[in-house]
Amino acid sequence: MDPLQALPGTYDLLPEEAARWDRLHARVADFMARYAYGRIETPHLEPADLFSRSVGTDTDIVQKEMYAFEDRGGRRLALRPEGTAGVVRAFIEHSLDKQRPYHKLWYWGPMFRAERPQKGRYRQFWQFGVEAFGVAEPSMDAEQIALAWTLADSLGVVAGTLRLNSIGDAQCRPAYRELLLRFLTGIESKLCDGCRARLTTNPLRVLDCKEAGCRRLLADAPRTVDHLCDDCARHFDGVRASLDSMSVPYRLDPGIVRGLDYYVRTAFELDSPRLGAQSSVLGGGRYDGLVKALGGGDVPGVGWAAGIERVLLSTEEPALTSEPLHAYVAAFPETREAALAWAQTLRARGAKVETDHQGRSLQAQMKEGSSLGARYVAVLGPDEWGKGEVTLKNLESGSQEVLVLERAGSLIAPA
Ligand code: HAM
Repeated sequence: MDPLQALPGTYDLLPEEAARWDRLHARVADFMARYAYGRIETPHLEPADLFSRSVGTDTDIVQKEMYAFEDRGGRRLALRPEGTAGVVRAFIEHSLDKQRPYHKLWYWGPMFRAERPQKGRYRQFWQFGVEAFGVAEPSMDAEQIALAWTLADSLGVVAGTLRLNSIGDAQCRPAYRELLLRFLTGIESKLCDGCRARLTTNPLRVLDCKEAGCRRLLADAPRTVDHLCDDCARHFDGVRASLDSMSVPYRLDPGIVRGLDYYVRTAFELDSPRLGAQSSVLGGGRYDGLVKALGGGDVPGVGWAAGIERVLLSTEEPALTSEPLHAYVAAFPETREAALAWAQTLRARGAKVETDHQGRSLQAQMKEGSSLGARYVAVLGPDEWGKGEVTLKNLESGSQEVLVLERAGSLIAPA
C-alpha cells in the first residue's frame, strides 16, 4: 500500500518551523496589544451562504475556490476561505455593537481555498488579521495601515511597496463602473480570456489583471480615485493625511481593487519582492455596508489580513531567531536520575533546559548541548554531585567552574 501523504497544497508544520511560528505569534500578539486589539476566534466551518453573501457570489473565491459541501444533515457548509465574514457574523450574533461604541478585534488561524498550489500559495493557509467595527473616520483606516507597516517592519519582512487606493462606495461606484465598462468594451478583443469573462461579472477586477498585455492596455483606464463622490474623496484625503503624519510610506495604485466584493473606499496591499508571483503579503480595506448586509446594524468596518506563510517567506531570519536553551544538563551513568531531577527543578524555576535520556557519552552530550544553542552545559560528575556541586561550562566564553548547585541554578535560571 502506498504511504499516505498530506493533500496537495497542505503541509505539516515540523518543530523547527513551528518554533518560528510561535515567535511570530508572540510578536503579533504583542503588537495587537499595543494597538488595543482584543482576540477573537471563530469556527473554521460556517454556513456556505455566509461567504456568498459577503465575499460575493461572482468572486473567484466563492465560485472556484471555496470548499463547500453538504453535511449529513443536508446543510450546505464551507471551510472558511477568509476570516472577515465569520468575524462579522460573530459581531452580529453577540450584539457586540450594543456593548461598546466600537470594537477592535484580531484573529490567527487557517483558511481554505482550492487554488493551484505553488510557492506561497496553499489550499490550507494561515492568516492573522484585524477587524475594527464602529468607526467611520479615516483615522482608523490609517491606524490599521500603520499597524500593518510597522509590524511588517519589526518582523523583518522585506517589504515592497504599500499600495493604496480608494474604490468609492455605493454612491459613486455605479457611474464609475459604467465609465469603466465603456472603456473595457472598447478594448475587449485585446484582453486576456480571464479579463473578458470578468468584464460581465466584475469589471472592476479587470483592473488588477497581472497579464503584461492587459497591464499595458489598462494604463489608460479611468481611475476610481478620479471619480469619487465628495464623501469618498474627503475620506481618502483623510486617510492619506493621517498616513503622512505618521510617516507611513505608500504609493497610490489605481490597480488595487481587491478580490472580494465587500470593500468600499479604502483598499490596500503590501507586497514583498521575495515572494515571486504570489507577491501579496497582506491586504485589506474598508467594508462599511457588510455588517448590515449580513443582518446587523449600520456599523462601519475596516480590516486587513496577512498570509502567515508569506510573512515568514519574506522575513529576514534574524528578526525571528530562536531563543536558545538556558542549559543542557549532562550526566554520567551514576547521576542520570539526579540530572533528570535537577533539570526538573530548573524548569520549575522557568529555565529552558534539556538533558540526556539515552545514556550517551559525555562528549556526545556536550555536542548536543552546543547544537541546541545552550548557554551553559552543567556536568553532574558523581564526585561533585555527592558534595552538592556541579561543573558549569559557559559555552559562549568557554570558561568553566565548579559551583554549589544553588549558585549554578541561579546563574542558569533567569530571575
Ligand atoms: P485576501 O487578500 O484574500 O484578503 O488575503 C489576505 C492575505 O492572505 C493575502 O495577502 C495573502 O498573504 C494570504 N493568502 C491569500 N490566499 C492565499 C493562499 N492560497 N495561500 C497562501 N496565502 C494566501 C482577505 O482574506 C480579507 N479577509 C482581508 C481583510 C480583512 N479585509 C478586511 N479585513
